[in-house]
Amino acid sequence: MNEFNNMEFMAKTTLYTGSGSLKSLKDAIKKYGLDGNFLFVTDKGIEGAGILQKVIDSLPDIESKSQIFNDIKPNPNVTGTNAIYEKYKNDGIQNIIAVGGGSVVDAAKALAVLFTNGGSIDEYFGFDLYTNEPLPVFAVATTVGTGSEGGHASVITVDNSELKTKKLVFGEGLFPKAAILDGELLVGMPGSLVASTGMDALTHAIEGYVSRNGSIITDALNLHAVRVISEAILEASSDTTNTSAMNRMIQASTTTGIGMSNGGLGLVHGISHAIGAQYDAPHGIVNAILLPYVLEYNWIANPKKFADIAQALRVNTSGMSTEDAAKAGVKRVKELTKEVGIPEKLGEIGVSKESIDVLTDIAFNDELYMGANPRRATKKDIVAILNKAI
Ligand SMILES: [Fe+2]
Repeated sequence: MNEFNNMEFMAKTTLYTGSGSLKSLKDAIKKYGLDGNFLFVTDKGIEGAGILQKVIDSLPDIESKSQIFNDIKPNPNVTGTNAIYEKYKNDGIQNIIAVGGGSVVDAAKALAVLFTNGGSIDEYFGFDLYTNEPLPVFAVATTVGTGSEGGHASVITVDNSELKTKKLVFGEGLFPKAAILDGELLVGMPGSLVASTGMDALTHAIEGYVSRNGSIITDALNLHAVRVISEAILEASSDTTNTSAMNRMIQASTTTGIGMSNGGLGLVHGISHAIGAQYDAPHGIVNAILLPYVLEYNWIANPKKFADIAQALRVNTSGMSTEDAAKAGVKRVKELTKEVGIPEKLGEIGVSKESIDVLTDIAFNDELYMGANPRRATKKDIVAILNKAI
């Protein structure tokens, strides 16, 4: 299904990788000029961990003309994003530096659109719906899962309508101009955050590899990311001072993020965005819990590719039929989820069976993910998956 797809492959972010790569941010910004004021966008955890200060210290030329917004919440929403824009819209902001994980980078991209186009962010849900080029965004990644630092989407929760969902603003101008993937900067982050965000990256890689909208190019990115993540995630989550493992995780995460931007995702993200919007639940954990249940449902649609995934997960598949290898891969994902300390059921993080109908409706109507999923799911299928996963 892949080699026949007509697609435009876009990767427009300059990536700086390896320990100490933060020092490259200064030159990356200079390439775009130092006009106007800068807005740092981050969250309190990143600020408290001292990472924001390290980034500011690396940029002495802009310190005097910078402002800091330090309170991005998980799952950024329309109301909150608009409020940040209103707060800074008359301050001559011309560049945005995002220091954080997916929520921070997504909020920064949304702000980049608002600063040059005005209005409310929900006017831009869809592809390239803005008129003016968004402000340049520079991203310093502080988790190992979002992939947003190398992609052109911003995920925003629609909190200003009766039904809470997540929607995406897409645009070629939303690729960050540069992203710093510095494993040393991540040293000391909580192991549980490596586990949850790392499992989000694994979800991107697996969903991307079996996506109907993928290509040989996205397959290469996604399958190798499965391999690297499966080799590094246990080391990284159990010892976040292991800079080698942290570097491998963050690079694999961005690799599959580029794959995701070009080949799409699947049903795990369709359901998890519904849960994230309804429950304000952490994206990585929801994905990690859902992943084995969705794979148990999906593998039959493409056993060959699921067998490839098993091998990338280092399952010994020699002597197995393709179908058995595919199933062994799904089993390994389930084990891995447990090994990194993720709960087995959504009920453990507060998701209730009473919401199955509304979650199913939201996921089923999200064509972005339903259309890319390798198996065409019915509402009944999604209900069955949720019944098992909750
Ligand atoms: Fe994700």
